[in-house]
Amino acid sequence: MKVFLEDEAATMALAERFRAALPEKLSGLTVLLEGELGAGKSTFARGLIRAMGHSGPVPSPTYTLVEPYHLPSGIVYHVDLYRVASEEELRFLGWNELDDGLRLVEWPDRAPQLANAADIRLTLSYAGAGRNVQIDGLSEQGMQLIADIN
Ligand SMILES: Nc1ncnc2c1ncn2[C@@H]1O[C@H](COP(=O)(O)OP(=O)(O)O)[C@@H](O)[C@H]1O
Ligand SMILES: [Mg+2]
Repeated sequence: MKVFLEDEAATMALAERFRAALPEKLSGLTVLLEGELGAGKSTFARGLIRAMGHSGPVPSPTYTLVEPYHLPSGIVYHVDLYRVASEEELRFLGWNELDDGLRLVEWPDRAPQLANAADIRLTLSYAGAGRNVQIDGLSEQGMQLIADIN
């Protein structure tokens, strides 16, 4: 599935449609957010976390690596692996324990083995003043979810 997002509002609207396709209770779902700096990964993450009922700020997890959100439908872990350089750092982050919620992962290429166990990949890229997003299902559950996006 490929969508043109003409501005930030379109990215936020896609995040709302994505949210509507998610199961009512979240757990063990991993969504990868790929794309170069400025492509809109954090914007999508903020849109999704807000669409799930969070009303405060959504700070970048660049230094904390993970920001958890305890929301009515479950836990969202906003993860940013930009600064992760080794498997040991990933263990330090406690990745394996983040399996009770939705893992929303920026810069997943820093830990290539994560992609093997992910459900959905969004690849954002520049398109004039807007962005393109390619959405791929990587698992059975991920493909089903994408089919449910209206
Ligand atoms: N669809 C879009 N079209 C144009 N600008 C966008 C779009 N989505 C996000 N932006 C803008 O791109 C900039 C960078 O977004 P950000 O989400 O921080 O990128 P990333 O996390 O990928 O580095 C922000 O100023 C944001 O408003
Ligand atoms: Mg970002």
